[in-house]
Amino acid sequence: MASPHPSSEAEPGWIGPAQIAAFAASGTTIHRLFSGPDGWIERLGRDLLVSWNSPGTLPSLLSELEGWRSRLGLAVDRIFLRKRWERGRTSRLTLVSGSRGLPPTATAQENGLSFLLRFDAGESTGFFLDQRENRAFLRKIKPRRLLNLFAYTCSFGVAAASAGACTWNVDLSPRILEWGKENYRLNSLDPSSHWFLARDARAVFPYLSRRRARFDACVIDPPTYAHGRRGADFSLPRDLGELLLGVLPLCEPGAHLLLSTNYRPWRPADLLREAARACHRAGAKLEPLPSPPHPADLPEGSGPATLWLRIFPGHR
Ligand SMILES: C[S@@+](CC[C@H](N)C(=O)[O-])C[C@H]1O[C@@H](n2cnc3c(N)ncnc32)[C@H](O)[C@@H]1O
Repeated sequence: MASPHPSSEAEPGWIGPAQIAAFAASGTTIHRLFSGPDGWIERLGRDLLVSWNSPGTLPSLLSELEGWRSRLGLAVDRIFLRKRWERGRTSRLTLVSGSRGLPPTATAQENGLSFLLRFDAGESTGFFLDQRENRAFLRKIKPRRLLNLFAYTCSFGVAAASAGACTWNVDLSPRILEWGKENYRLNSLDPSSHWFLARDARAVFPYLSRRRARFDACVIDPPTYAHGRRGADFSLPRDLGELLLGVLPLCEPGAHLLLSTNYRPWRPADLLREAARACHRAGAKLEPLPSPPHPADLPEGSGPATLWLRIFPGHR
């Protein structure tokens, strides 16, 4: 699970051959290839996804990509495009190169774990590569029981389960959790030994308390805003405190808690403020942990704001 280090060979914007080799050595085929002012390119196994802001600069990017790809000898089946200039009007990915006859799914690897990707499920392919270092840290601490709120396709659940944890994945969408189960199967992890709860994360705590569930690791990685059932919309700045008050009593002493958000105004200090406030109300103590390294393929300042804490319930 070695983290690839930035390479001095990298051209501006593109990762270099040494970094590609480091990813290969760690069993990782999902990573950024390019980051620039107009967008970025991700490698997703044998497919590439170009997320681009401007139609004007796209042709030159694609020809640069072709030169770069053939210099490095990288095998590519398809190139998909996310037209960010059409955001809000369409969420479909466009195939710009490769055969239409290939299946709409593919698998790719991160640190030796496999994940199912879909190219026909709207803007998202089912995997957030910017959480790589947090998943690696979760595997390293080898939790026994993980609570994974806003689980999506259960990448944190798979990471913890691969290190021996029993995992509880909670997401509003039963369809997304089925995709999560598929990710468990892909890694020879039996979903029937884990929990997949299709519920509102804010309403799951009484159920977990009744079952006397306790966790030595929790992940809270919510969207900034999401429509909910029967008008119960989720808003991160409004609802994070309530979520923390639900999670804290379920934490074992010294439990690891990951907070993560893409809400732009918030930095890790804002997450710490919310956690400190909730701990004060719940009579718990917290200890912030040093952040895992920033992913070597992402520019500084990009990606979610994240914070790892240890929680000690029952302390003032
Ligand atoms: C940003 S994704 C989470 C990413 C995930 N942690 C990962 O790293 O792959 C947001 C997820 O929250 C779910 N969601 C939205 N509102 C929810 C709610 N009130 N309760 C539970 N899940 C919710 C969505 O269905 C979606 O799967």
